[in-house]
Amino acid sequence: MNKLVDQISELLCSAFTAAGYDASYGKATISNRPDLCEYQCNGAMAAAKAYKKAPIAIANDVVAQLSHEAFESVEAVAPGFINLKLTPAYLCAYLEQMRSAERFGVPRQEPPRTIVVDYGGANVAKPLHVGHLRPAVIGEALCRMERYVGNKVIGDVHLGDWGLQMGLIVEGVRERYPDLPYFDDSYTGEYPSQAPFTISELEEIYPAASARSKVDPAFSARAHEATYRLQKGQRGYAALREHIMNVSIADLRKNYEALDVHYTLWKGESDADPYIMPMIEKMRADGFAVESQGALVVEVQTEEDTKQVPPCILLKSDGAALYATTDLATLVQREQDFHPDKVLYVVDKRQALHFEQVFRTAYKTGIVRPETELKFLGFGTMNGKDGKPFKTRDGGVMRLENFVADITDTVRQRIAQNQVIPPEKMDQTAHQIAIAALKYGDLSNLATKDYVFDIERFTSFEGNTGPYLLYTIVRIGSIMTKYGGDVSGLALRPAESALEKDLQLVLSRFADQLLLAVRDSTPNVLCAYCYELAGAANRFYHDVRILQEPDEARRQGYLALLDMTRRMLLTCIDLLGFSAPEQM
Ligand code: ARG
Repeated sequence: MNKLVDQISELLCSAFTAAGYDASYGKATISNRPDLCEYQCNGAMAAAKAYKKAPIAIANDVVAQLSHEAFESVEAVAPGFINLKLTPAYLCAYLEQMRSAERFGVPRQEPPRTIVVDYGGANVAKPLHVGHLRPAVIGEALCRMERYVGNKVIGDVHLGDWGLQMGLIVEGVRERYPDLPYFDDSYTGEYPSQAPFTISELEEIYPAASARSKVDPAFSARAHEATYRLQKGQRGYAALREHIMNVSIADLRKNYEALDVHYTLWKGESDADPYIMPMIEKMRADGFAVESQGALVVEVQTEEDTKQVPPCILLKSDGAALYATTDLATLVQREQDFHPDKVLYVVDKRQALHFEQVFRTAYKTGIVRPETELKFLGFGTMNGKDGKPFKTRDGGVMRLENFVADITDTVRQRIAQNQVIPPEKMDQTAHQIAIAALKYGDLSNLATKDYVFDIERFTSFEGNTGPYLLYTIVRIGSIMTKYGGDVSGLALRPAESALEKDLQLVLSRFADQLLLAVRDSTPNVLCAYCYELAGAANRFYHDVRILQEPDEARRQGYLALLDMTRRMLLTCIDLLGFSAPEQM
């Protein structure tokens, strides 16, 4: 269905035509002066030049043609604005249509686009830490929003499972268990199906091996050798690698799921490995890959550049492939598997130059089509209250699990005071609220900016927070429970008060805000919408008595309106990636 603002534009266009002006001037926008009007049109100002007339004269001409039932008031205001207010009946009829439409009438992307979202980047054999939070939270919201508008979305975790780190882990395992068959070159039997380590062991092995390689050159050389053999596909190492991946992925999956983050694809950097050499051979043959100081590079500087863009290095002088090489080969693979219209990378903004080089190389060498959209969404850092990157109390890197547990504890204390949650629901409810607090706290900021994680503020039930949204939902839910009947059949009523109309207007603007958030990859726009909606709902709720309202039709109208608000809020938080408890 059409957005309300577009329906109003249509009426305006007809009025411009009827008044003898071109229809193209009749574009309506949501008012930026809600104290004066609900919608406005600035077309008379633009038309003034073309028709060599005073804008207010044009606005007056148009207003004279606007006698539609949609408008409660239309005003031409100096120097030439047209200010509009809707009739409650028209607004109500529109909402009623939205209420029964699928997805509240949000138009679908036609034709649907195929979008790969690359938003994990965790490293195998290492626990998730707070640095992994932002890509997961932002990426998941973007995937859900894109799906909602009808696009085909493939969310890829793109694990760091390639290069020296794998060699280090292999050598670390060998140190502990030298007798395992994986290290016996003469072994030809089947390898055990059971992994020789648990996730906790693996998480010890890797950092220890990494630290040791920095001070022990012999160990470091062995790790390099193991990396090389792994990439050559040596049988025992491949089997060990399989175990490392399985154990690690099972743990990562569990942790991402606790965050309500669900990937479509569990690929890693190493999956691109088979594509590397053919890609490089082709780049050489096409003359794009050239030698430079012993390395193999693609020049990506162009004449329009005002800054220096260093060449993209494919192979180092020792023949080793680099981070950019795997990202390019991954694009080759994605092009082959999905032929995406868009690839969106949700990665730390400090990697901007890397992606600039990768994108330029991909377009230049024809890995992607010119019309493929490659987009880098570089997010800022989550800081502690001291303004520095978030750390544990003793200055270490905080595990994501512990971080979530801390927030859950804070929430548990808050809700324990309210004494409404039955003990058996306590853990789940606290977790649900904690996830809302941390996700909303993150998403309500512009992704590209740094922000301060403030546990007190983010978990508060008041103010611009996730728990506030949940609280609004729960509160409306409890009215519905008290009412007890089926509200879906009750009719909305034209608004009778300013606060009621306000709430209806906000509801009617869902599609506008969602589509904006999708277009610009800005979940913060959807957050702002949720906050506005919850605010309007609470003001209305405080203004009227719902269940005690004596007029039955009016009471039903209130219930229908609040129920629609609740469903809308539930939809919004689901798009943002969290859910609401029944009580809190
Ligand atoms: N694993 C990488 C890191 O820790 C992030 C990966 C981001 N995605 C990508 N396609 N490069 O920095």
